[in-house]
Formats: sequence, C-alpha cells, structure tokens
Amino acid sequence: MIETVHVNLPGRAYDVVIGPGLLAQAGARITPFLRRPRVTIVTEENVAPLHLAALRQGLEETGITSETLILPAGESTKSWPFLEQTVEWLLAQKVERGDIVIAFGGGVIGDLVGFAASTVRRGVRFVQIPTSLLAQVDSSVGGKTGINSPSGKNLIGAFHQPTLVLADIDLLSSLSERDFLSGYGEVAKYGMLGDPDFFDWLESDGPNLKPLADETALPDDKIAARVWAVTRSVQMKADIVERDETEQGDRALLNLGHTFCHALEAATGYSDRLLHGEGVAIGCALAFELSARMGLCAQEEPSRVRAHLNAMGMKTDLSDIEGELPDAHGLLALMGQDKKVVDGQLRFILARGIGKAFVSADVPADKVLSVLNDALAMR
Ligand code: GLY
Repeated sequence: MIETVHVNLPGRAYDVVIGPGLLAQAGARITPFLRRPRVTIVTEENVAPLHLAALRQGLEETGITSETLILPAGESTKSWPFLEQTVEWLLAQKVERGDIVIAFGGGVIGDLVGFAASTVRRGVRFVQIPTSLLAQVDSSVGGKTGINSPSGKNLIGAFHQPTLVLADIDLLSSLSERDFLSGYGEVAKYGMLGDPDFFDWLESDGPNLKPLADETALPDDKIAARVWAVTRSVQMKADIVERDETEQGDRALLNLGHTFCHALEAATGYSDRLLHGEGVAIGCALAFELSARMGLCAQEEPSRVRAHLNAMGMKTDLSDIEGELPDAHGLLALMGQDKKVVDGQLRFILARGIGKAFVSADVPADKVLSVLNDALAMR
C-alpha cells in the first residue's frame, strides 16, 4: 500500500513516499542520502510526545543518531525569533552541508525548517516528514519555505526543495476531526482545480476518509482510501510544480480559493477562528460562486462544491465563521495584501467548471464585492 510520487525537477528531483508505517522505515529510507549516520530533527510540542520516539526508533534501526529541537506549536512559530533559534541551534549542532535536517510536523514546521535549512551554510538538505493532512498534500511538497512578516503571511522565504518527503498515513490517526477536515479542504481543492474524476471520487468516498472515534486497527479500505487521496493530491501538485516551480504561471492554480482565504485569515487574525484549510474550502466555494456570476460556469457548479463540503461537515460559508467580519470593502482591501498581487491587480483563480480552473488577472471588483456582500448577508 506504499505509493511513490516522483517530483521531477532537474537537479532537484525527489520522491514523495506515501503510505502507512513509514516512521518505522525512516532510517532505511533516509540512509542513502546521508554522508554520516546522524541527523537533526526539528519538531513541535504537540507532535513530539505523540510521534518523536517512533521516528527516533525508526532512525536507530539503521544506526542513525539524532538530536532534536522542540519548538512551540502554532502559526506564531513561523517568525523571525524562531527562525533565529532554529538556525542557531542547527549551527550549534555543527550541521554540515552533507547532513540532513528533518522537518517533523505540520505546515508551520515544514515551512520554518525548510527556510532555516535553505539559509544555514547557504543551504543544507532537508527531509519533510509531514504530520498533518494539509502538510502531506500541500505544504511539504514543492519547495515553498518561509516565515510570516508583520506585513503579511509567507512574505519572507525561499524556494528550497526537500530531498525526500515521507507522508506516513498512520500519523493522520492522531489528528482531531477539525484538523483532518481542514487538510481535506486542500484535497478537495485539487479535484476542483484540475481533476473532475477525483472530485467525483471524493463525493462518493470522501466520507470514508474521515476520522473514526477509534482509529486503532483501521480497515484496509480506509487506509487505502487515505493513501489514494494523498497520492492523487501530491501527483497533481508535483505535475504543476514541475511545469512552474517558481510560480511564474500555472503554479498559481494551486491557490484556488486562496485569495478569499487570505483575506478571511487576515480578518480573523490568523487565529483558531479559521484554520487555513477551512479558509481554503470557503474560498473555493466563493471562487466558484464568482466564476458563475461572471458567466464562466453554471450555477450548479458552486452549488455542487458547497454540497460536497457540507456533506463532509466542513465550513462552507462565511456564516460558518464565528464572530465579526469586516464588510465586503474591508475584505476586498485585505485581498490587496495578498502577495500574489501583480502590478496592483488582483489575480484570482476562476473555474469554467469542476476540474477546470484557470488564472485570471481580469476580475471586476464589483463582481467580487457582490459575491462578498451576498455571502455576508447570509450571516
Ligand atoms: N501551496 C501552494 C503552493 O505550494 O504553490
């Protein structure tokens, strides 16, 4: 049940290995990349008590020793102080160019550690071992690394591809339902942006991916469904990253729903009021609504998107976000902070139907405002 997706970037190619039991195989899978049997691991305080011992044991199986830095959990760790702490710790560990740093956590750890690795000694290699669904299907693949600035999210960073990604499906069992569904927002996004058959499959099999009250001894079909959901998502991401590593064009497709999402995340203070994948799901529904209002797709398409998100028990509408939100003009202004603004024009990812997304820099503000006004009126 182990799948491998090869990310075929010239001189920077790597495998994303997806399946159960990968922590136990970590040593065997990382050994071929090591010049000496020693790694550094950077993780966070929620992941460490659950999974660090298993990772270290998996490394020790092949004689790899490890030192670990445990950082606080949460988005505020993706910041200058923790970047400095991580870089200085790696230097204190005497990490050399030939060594491997392991980023062991969700998107925050992957982004921070990848960026730290890109700067230490002008670049050391790193392995991503993503522990959240969101990180397994999105942030661990494609080499975007970085931290947040007081001016905005992800504004400081570098493209630095990992040497290997190990997406251990077993780790998903320790996620809360909310975190799992947040990651699912990114999975559904792949279907919506480029693969209608995958979206059909998610409509029928998506509910089978959801966490059970008791995740011990999962049936094989559930594990296989999760492996497929992650594998298909990673394949799609790899294809796009191979075409456009540094986001000059097609890679922006991966931001379906993200322009709305970034405004909503800013409006909710990047807090627990709205997790990133929840914002992506709501943002995808709004992007399809906008596409329908612009006459690009039938009204059935946004309805179908929202029906699926609802069936999964996910946040779907602005009314699902608790607390105050800015008005439509306020949200539009927050979109202007999106780092993908080109020459002052907002780029949106629109769709001609499910699986048919495209990049547009030609979106009238009044259409965006009408979508937002109607969505806010439903609150
Ligand atoms: N998460 C979007 C990208 O990697 O381009």
